Amino acid sequence: MYQIFSTPTCAKSQQVLPELCSPLGSSTPMDSVPLLRRPGQINKNIRRKKELDKHFKDQFIIDAGQKHFGPVSCKTCGMVYAAASPEDETQHAQYHQRLLEGIKFVGWKKERTMAEYWDGKIIVVFPDDPKYAVKKAEDVRELVDSELGFKQANLSRPSKIKTYLFVSNDRKIVGCVIAEHITQAFRVLSEDVHRTDFEKLKTVENQRAWRCSTEPERAICGVSRIWVFKLQRRRGIASRMVDTVRNTFMYGSFLSKTEIAFSDPTPDGKLFATKYCGTPNFLVYNFIS
Ligand code: COA
Repeated sequence: MYQIFSTPTCAKSQQVLPELCSPLGSSTPMDSVPLLRRPGQINKNIRRKKELDKHFKDQFIIDAGQKHFGPVSCKTCGMVYAAASPEDETQHAQYHQRLLEGIKFVGWKKERTMAEYWDGKIIVVFPDDPKYAVKKAEDVRELVDSELGFKQANLSRPSKIKTYLFVSNDRKIVGCVIAEHITQAFRVLSEDVHRTDFEKLKTVENQRAWRCSTEPERAICGVSRIWVFKLQRRRGIASRMVDTVRNTFMYGSFLSKTEIAFSDPTPDGKLFATKYCGTPNFLVYNFIS
């Protein structure tokens, strides 16, 4: 018995149906195979680049020796935009400013440092921490939500979350994991038993609907949001953050990879979780049936 989901939007369900953090096993008839129809999460920058490439192909633009021609990718904020377009330039300037402001970290007197590395450290913010810390955590969450395309996505139980932030040596917040207590989750089912190869997963499963079991399994920690600054990805930041969550989420115990679940993962999230958990059949929670 299983359920099918479209290529998903991590935590978007919290925006649409906040109450769904008590997952759906009970509310889903055992003989039904519900299909989610909501917009798939698309990496905004890839989509933007494609749009811009198409725009430049379709439109007849005169190369009059402009400094920049065609899509450019900002080396600081990572946004892809058309440098020749005033509208795009404005959008870029706004995004750039907002991002840099959001990820700036001045340092606090009382930081709860959970792990230290050669390239930065991981701190955690609790909901009852001083206002400035909670405000920073909220600002980062808003940035993450806007990158994921969520508008006014509320957390289901804001008083219960722990926000882990990866602060780089140059005092920028380049990673964020929001973790919450859960009691059960559901296993993602493989699309095809012959397609367990990771490369195939990347190219095939990534684009497709995914299925998960209707059988709830015990889980302890839910990853509600996981995000790494675009220009710092594939450097093990997310892996180190989830390691730290597992190590510190519950006092005195180190959670196993089978005790954590991902909230309705995006394609990026799915690839990450598959690698991190060592299986495409990792646990998920908090999705729409
Ligand atoms: N494509 C393919 N494999 C990926 C991947 C991607 N986009 N992201 C992670 N992986 C796999 C790789 O095997 C990687 O190891 P490798 O780099 O040695 O090959 C492994 O996961 C560990 O990745 P890591 O470097 O720890 O992850 P990260 O710091 O790049 O962060 C995300 C991963 C998902 C947090 C990041 O891509 C991100 O912020 N994406 C946008 C927000 C998002 O979609 N979040 C998921 C919500 S559920």
